[in-house]
Amino acid sequence: MLSDKDRIFTNLYGRHDPGLEAAKQRGAWHLTREMLAQGPDWICDQIKASGLRGRGGAGFPTGLKWTFMPKEVGERPHYLVVNADESEPGTCKDREILRHDPHLLIEGCMVASRAMRAHKCYVYLRGEYIAERHALEKAVKEAYEAKLIGENNVNGWDFDLYVHHGAGAYICGEETALLESLEGKKGQPRLKPPFPANAGLYGCPTTVNNVESIAVAPTILRRGAEWFAGFGAPNNTGTKLFCISGHVNKPCNVEEEMSLTFRELIDTHCGGIRGGWDNLKAVIPGGSSVRMVPAEQIIDCKMDFDSLRDLQSGLGTAAVIVMDKSTDLIKAIARISYFYKHESCGQCTPCREGTGWMWRVVERMARGEAEHSDIDMLLDVTKQIEGHTICALGDAAAWPIQGLIKHFRHEIEERIDQYRAPRALVQGHVVAAE
Ligand SMILES: Cc1cc2nc3c(=O)[nH]c(=O)nc-3n(C[C@H](O)[C@H](O)[C@H](O)COP(=O)(O)O)c2cc1C
Ligand code: SF4
Repeated sequence: MLSDKDRIFTNLYGRHDPGLEAAKQRGAWHLTREMLAQGPDWICDQIKASGLRGRGGAGFPTGLKWTFMPKEVGERPHYLVVNADESEPGTCKDREILRHDPHLLIEGCMVASRAMRAHKCYVYLRGEYIAERHALEKAVKEAYEAKLIGENNVNGWDFDLYVHHGAGAYICGEETALLESLEGKKGQPRLKPPFPANAGLYGCPTTVNNVESIAVAPTILRRGAEWFAGFGAPNNTGTKLFCISGHVNKPCNVEEEMSLTFRELIDTHCGGIRGGWDNLKAVIPGGSSVRMVPAEQIIDCKMDFDSLRDLQSGLGTAAVIVMDKSTDLIKAIARISYFYKHESCGQCTPCREGTGWMWRVVERMARGEAEHSDIDMLLDVTKQIEGHTICALGDAAAWPIQGLIKHFRHEIEERIDQYRAPRALVQGHVVAAE
């Protein structure tokens, strides 16, 4: 279990003042000037050595990503864009940083901007995050007034930070849709390449990072890459914010060491599974976009990128959705499918048409109104969507259904049989078994 002295987010629960002076007491803005003075290569090397992987879902190595920015600033300015859109169902970690530890984020923005030779940073906030915006704006104002940021600031790197409020569309969390939206256009993903590091915001070199990825950076530099790399397993290092919801006794957000087991996470912080461990049915371990894992496979699994990938699932945003035996899994996945249908931006045909088609079929299956052969047809359609779209929303819509069929096909079949049993005779004919 992570000890209190090793927590980065010491005000995660908002028990203390999020203001500048209190944040400084907790360690924020300490040695910032000295860290910036080490220059971009040192910062990137430290973040690389820490093993930090992006906390926005895909787990891409953060230090490596920063090195993709051009080494020299040419005619086009460089930008850092922070993804605070946080709309993945089950995920509620970035909001706690924004509300309760905003100075760690602002300092992180400055450090990361120095690493990529950017003087300007935009934080793109989820539309519904009104209180979070107020908290962040208050902290930004404090940082300007204290000359921690802005022109000729005490930290020696000219730096401006702008807060931009989105309008509440899930797709604007996809990094290129976010950039389109930030430019004032419809939030629709761009084709890649070019990648943002070559042509991002306003066609300029840009890096997009999640709030948590950026907010942990100053503490890593202060305490040392080895300290951060000392937590977790190789290639899955550091501390991590987990958001645990669903059928546990005490749902919560918690910062923990990466690679602890699911059982440790739930027993230590959530008071166990509702009704006991034998009552666990399945878990969606990384936000609604990843495939579910049945109880027997997840209980002793390490909660990290590689271990969950080995189970054909993923750590994603570390939003752990726990489902006990009372859960109608087919109905749950039908609800998730509705979400993706609703949030599809409509640019590509497989996603625009496929998400609606899949939702309608899973809804029918939840009622049992289907044929056994529909299950394979549905699986086939998910494969036609997966990997065939502009952005990963297509995959995100396909994977939950694939997880359901892979692990709980028998439940779908039983539901169909139950529905058909009292309807064996239709207009005098026996309905063909299959
Ligand atoms: C449909 C969709 C929604 C996404 N929503 C978010 C989000 O709300 N927040 C986030 O940080 N990343 C989100 N991402 C991932 C981003 O595209 C991007 O990978 C991430 O911001 C990179 O940050 P990181 O390297 O620090 O993880 C989303 C991706 C997709 C495909
Ligand atoms: S996959 Fe879906 S959300 Fe992504 S660009 Fe295509 S239509 Fe839009």
